[in-house]
Amino acid sequence: MQGSTKIQIQDVVAPIDRRLYGSFIEQLGRAVYTGIYQPDHPTADSDGFRTDVIDAVKTLNVPLIRYPGGNFLSQYRWEDGIGPKSQRPVRLDLAWRELETNQFGLHEFMRWADKVNAVPNMAVNLGTRGIQAAADLVEYCNFPKGTYLSDLRRQNGAEHPFAIKTWCLGNEMDGPWEIGAKSAGEYAHLANETAKAMRRVDDTLELVACGSSSMDNPTFGNWEETVLDACYDNVDYLSLHRYYGYYNDDDPTELDNFLGKNHDLDDFIKGVVAMCDAVKARKRSTKTINLSFDEWNVWYHSNDADTQVTPWQVGPHLLEDIYNFEDALLIGSLLMTLLRNADRVKIACLAQLVNVIAPIMTDENGGIWRQSIFYPFMQVANYGQGVVLTDHSTSSTYNSREFTDVAYLDTVTTYDAATQTVTVFAENKHQTETLDFELNFGELMIDRLLDATQFYGYDVKADNRDGHMQLQPLPARTDTHHANTKLQPLSWNVLRFK
Ligand code: AHR
Repeated sequence: MQGSTKIQIQDVVAPIDRRLYGSFIEQLGRAVYTGIYQPDHPTADSDGFRTDVIDAVKTLNVPLIRYPGGNFLSQYRWEDGIGPKSQRPVRLDLAWRELETNQFGLHEFMRWADKVNAVPNMAVNLGTRGIQAAADLVEYCNFPKGTYLSDLRRQNGAEHPFAIKTWCLGNEMDGPWEIGAKSAGEYAHLANETAKAMRRVDDTLELVACGSSSMDNPTFGNWEETVLDACYDNVDYLSLHRYYGYYNDDDPTELDNFLGKNHDLDDFIKGVVAMCDAVKARKRSTKTINLSFDEWNVWYHSNDADTQVTPWQVGPHLLEDIYNFEDALLIGSLLMTLLRNADRVKIACLAQLVNVIAPIMTDENGGIWRQSIFYPFMQVANYGQGVVLTDHSTSSTYNSREFTDVAYLDTVTTYDAATQTVTVFAENKHQTETLDFELNFGELMIDRLLDATQFYGYDVKADNRDGHMQLQPLPARTDTHHANTKLQPLSWNVLRFK
């Protein structure tokens, strides 16, 4: 099978906003407790943070982390997580039916985010709370000093404001499962009034309004338009959430369909962009609303196990999906889709980061291991810098249960002017055929291939559980002529040129 791509560095989709490689820590399951925070762990630092986890997160090069939820957010009192730990209340978390000890809260998160070189994407509870609690939190975090709340922050150890720039106005408020779920009209009004108040405290904030928690929700479309009609002038981004599952293991053609789900992601993004722009036109506005894809991933492996978990534990094993090789292939493809839409998707958060539907896992023995999906994310977050180039790739296509014209060759190229490096991410979705991949550099002077890796050859259902970590990309054997390479069947490849 043949495939090719033409690389023209003047043909730019958009500069890459590094926040596209964001992630998410929710106070859920073992993300925090025995994940990032475990004071009795041998690697714990003086804050109780696991330094083995910090190192793994740093390897991923995640620039922004959403916190504290998620569904957890919608009944969270942020005040529970500040002040002396001995005085913090233990609460029922109604979202996940866990016990929340609040031993980890706002200050701990800010310190931890700093240690992993990430900025927060903070969220305010618009489920059970509203305008006052949100404005109070902004004052606590961002106001310099001289008010009750800013001085309380200082008293709690943070002399300087946290200066948190990006804020989510609630979480999945369209979802019937959400505590305090709302109709589009109710949410739109509350989000706008909350945004107004938060901006009065700090007019430098960037605000994200909740879009639909899934394209499948019956309110999708009407929700976006209603929310933007009310909030357009007071928000900067609209959020999207999307999770993918694999539901028919008995059908061998289902893998083709699973690997085609990048089409679904692309349709979702383009649909929401169209709605943002329709509202813009109707309002005769000069302002453009961009997208924050603040939850995306594969999520289905743990669904059955989660129904067996006993409620009201601290840090239970919840949403502990074990990712296999086909998941890693889909994650690579989804990342390329986000990159191709980088003109409008400015923020994205892989949901989540540690233990909960996560690339990084900790185990019962105090160990740490990397899931299959860790690798494509790490490679794109580290090498996908600079600008995204227009996709000029060609290859044959296939049809699957849900999708038509899925290209066997899925590829995207980025160019980093600072290092004059061209990075080509490329996936071959064919189950049995090798793809002869021709890279046409046109006028571009390329001296050499810096390195090439390929992630392939594993059973699609194999995973890295029990710390064996057999799944990972390996250096690729490259052809003598660097502009041509062979992409193995079902492979994820990264080629870097200078
Ligand atoms: O990421 C897991 C959950 O998925 C989040 O809490 C929620 O926002 C979404 O439904």
